[in-house]
Amino acid sequence: MYNTLIVFASNHGTVERCARELFRLLKGKVDLCNLNRRELIPDLGTYDTIIVGGSIHYGKIQDVIAGFCTNNQQLLADKRLGLFINCLYSGVKAQRQLESAFPEILTRHAVVQDYFGGELNDKKMNFWERIITRQIVRSEELEVMLYKEKIERFAEIITSHEEEN
Ligand SMILES: Cc1cc2nc3c(=O)[nH]c(=O)nc-3n(C[C@H](O)[C@H](O)[C@H](O)COP(=O)(O)O)c2cc1C
Repeated sequence: MYNTLIVFASNHGTVERCARELFRLLKGKVDLCNLNRRELIPDLGTYDTIIVGGSIHYGKIQDVIAGFCTNNQQLLADKRLGLFINCLYSGVKAQRQLESAFPEILTRHAVVQDYFGGELNDKKMNFWERIITRQIVRSEELEVMLYKEKIERFAEIITSHEEEN
């Protein structure tokens, strides 16, 4: 049976939504670990597949995700690994943010990695966050959206890779 852990951090709920969608789509035993909420990370050694997801703010993934990846780099490099980010940019800019979000050893090792798009939640953002994100969206002419089909594709790839092994 497949045994997957999805480790994530979400500032205003988008990454959590995507993690839960992956949880729904994946087969076998799947656990969720929200690094913003949990103090105890489960024993990574007991999982064959690990998915790590975070969001981009000012060009960078959250510190808690960066720290998790650095602290567990060797262990993660031994797993079937999937990496995802949520962000407003798409195309080349999103791809660049994805590449710099995780240590190179992990991006090279991952069986799948992708960006799933982003959301802006006016009710959850503070005044400055609203101003800054509005400015990014306007100046870059961004379409704010989540790519459901990318999440589905991600789940398919990680599952089909599991079936090969
Ligand atoms: C203050 C702020 C800065 C952001 N900076 C970036 C950025 O540099 N690049 C980008 O693509 N998206 C950026 N975003 C968009 C977030 O990545 C997006 O809203 C995402 O859905 C947040 O997910 P979360 O709520 O689960 O953390 C920013 C959002 C905020 C609020």
